[in-house]
Parts: sequence; structure tokens; C-alpha cells
Amino acid sequence: MIRKCLFPAAGYGTRFLPATKATPKEMLPVLTKPLIQYGVEEALEAGITTMAIVTGRGKRAIEDHFDISYELEHQIKGTSKEPLLREIRDLIEQCTFSYTRQREMKGLGHAILTGETLIGSEPFAVILADDLCTNGHGDGVLRQMVQLFNEHQCSIVAVEEVPHEEVSKYGVVAVEPMENNSDLYRVRDMVEKPDPEEAPSRLAIIGRYILTPDIFDILRRTPPGKGGEIQITDALREQARNGKVLAYRFRGKRFDCGSVVGFVEATNYFYDRISE
Ligand code: UTP
Repeated sequence: MIRKCLFPAAGYGTRFLPATKATPKEMLPVLTKPLIQYGVEEALEAGITTMAIVTGRGKRAIEDHFDISYELEHQIKGTSKEPLLREIRDLIEQCTFSYTRQREMKGLGHAILTGETLIGSEPFAVILADDLCTNGHGDGVLRQMVQLFNEHQCSIVAVEEVPHEEVSKYGVVAVEPMENNSDLYRVRDMVEKPDPEEAPSRLAIIGRYILTPDIFDILRRTPPGKGGEIQITDALREQARNGKVLAYRFRGKRFDCGSVVGFVEATNYFYDRISE
């Protein structure tokens, strides 16, 4: 059973400078809701109520967001604005939030390892809040993955088919098909940010994972890889070699809100659906 969701949120968000100079990237709003709130809602919809957030310097706004603001509540009580806080208040009531800080930004793998203290030794979910996922009124992406985990009990990465020329932005998987589910694959190998000519497929890993806790020991001995960062892809690669890692082509849409283009696309998408 997956009880906890880890949110690595310590990155610098340099692609959004100067907006991210003093504001965490995860707090940038798509319409009126910050990115990380969409992530927490997705985790809750998947049945997860324990949120573990890896933050860093300058990220205190995330903690304040998932806390009660008595002054604000008092100020708008009984006015037409009161409903605007209802959603976040419900979320705070249903979940617990814990935080730890990544002191040096040594990559996503290192951020996940930093979260060990909040996770312990149980399988857990990971959401990168800057990948905003939606499946309309259907099951959310993490919920789909939790259902698969309950069946297969191994690490699972969400993948999306991306254009050939874009594979160099992602971790890319080499896979073999599974029986009975054409959207599920067994991972044979994976490469971080390959040149398009060397990519084993066009299936790119996006910001949703379910990981078994042996990943922590593997990460501890994973040396820095591409870009001098400790890469989760390298650790998953070892897990895939020794056991089982599945890649799941999810139902739904993903917006890369770590990039300006993806962020604008997400904003337009959600704006168009306001009246639905
Ligand atoms: P990104 O690759 O998007 O990096 O990280 P970034 O630093 O956030 O953004 P840019 O590229 O400078 O614009 C993917 C995810 O991993 C987290 C980020 O917060 C983001 O959710 N991360 C990355 C960490 O928590 N720690 C790190 O050391 C690196």
C-alpha cells in the first residue's frame, strides 16, 4: 500500500528567472492555484494523505501555503471571498505535511535520497510538481499508477511518447511489452538525456514515480552522472537490472510547467475548462 508521496521541490527553477528569484517555482500559479497544490490534490485522489516535501533555501512559502492563515481567514470570513480558501482548507484538513531541506542541490536522485528521513522503509510515490498532470474527470495519473503497484509490487515510472528531437530532455527507457496491458512495459534499460541518435525509444520518463525503498541504498552508492548530478535514472537502471521496474504509458495529459511554453499551455488548458 502506498501511504506517502514525496515532492522534491528544492530545485532552483532557473528557467523561470527572475520570477523564481524569491518565489519557489512550485508556487507559481496556473490560474489561481500553485503548481504544488495540483500535485497534492493528485496524491490525495490516489488515496495518499501523507505529503513529504523536500525543500531548500527560499522555499518557505510552500510551508505557509499548506498551513492555516488565521489573519486572512478572519479578514474574509462572511464575505464573498470565503469560498476561495475552501479547497486549500479542505486539503490541509485531510493531509499531513512534513518537510526536510536539501542543503546542496545535487540533483533529483539526491533530493529523493534526502527525503528518506520522511519516508522510511516503505514503497512511496514521487510527484514533480512542475509536471502538471490531468486526466479530466477520469482517474488521475498517480491513482492509475497506485492501482498498478497494488498488482505488481515494484517500482513504476510514468512515460510519455515524445517527439524524436525532444528525447534529450528526458530519461528514456528501453522496454519490452507486458502481457495483458499494451500501456505497460518492463524496463530493460534507461538513459538520462540521450542524444536522439542514441535514444533506445521515444518513451520519456515524466515526473511521476512509484519507488520501492531499496532505491535509497542504491542512491547512496550512485555516483554523480550527467551534469554532475545524482540521477534517479541511474539508480532506477540498477533496480531494473536486478529486479523489476515497469514503465506505464498513462492516460491523461502532462504539461511541462518547468518551461515557459508548457506553463502557458497549462494555463490555457485549465482556463478553457473553467466553465465545464
Ligand atoms: P529540474 O530539472 O526541473 O530543475 O528538476 P530545476 O532546478 O527545478 O529547474 P531549472 O532547470 O533550473 O529551471 C526537476 C525536479 O527535481 C527537483 C526540482 O525542484 C524539480 O521538481 N530538484 C532538482 C530538487 O529537488 N533538487 C535538485 O537538486 C534538483
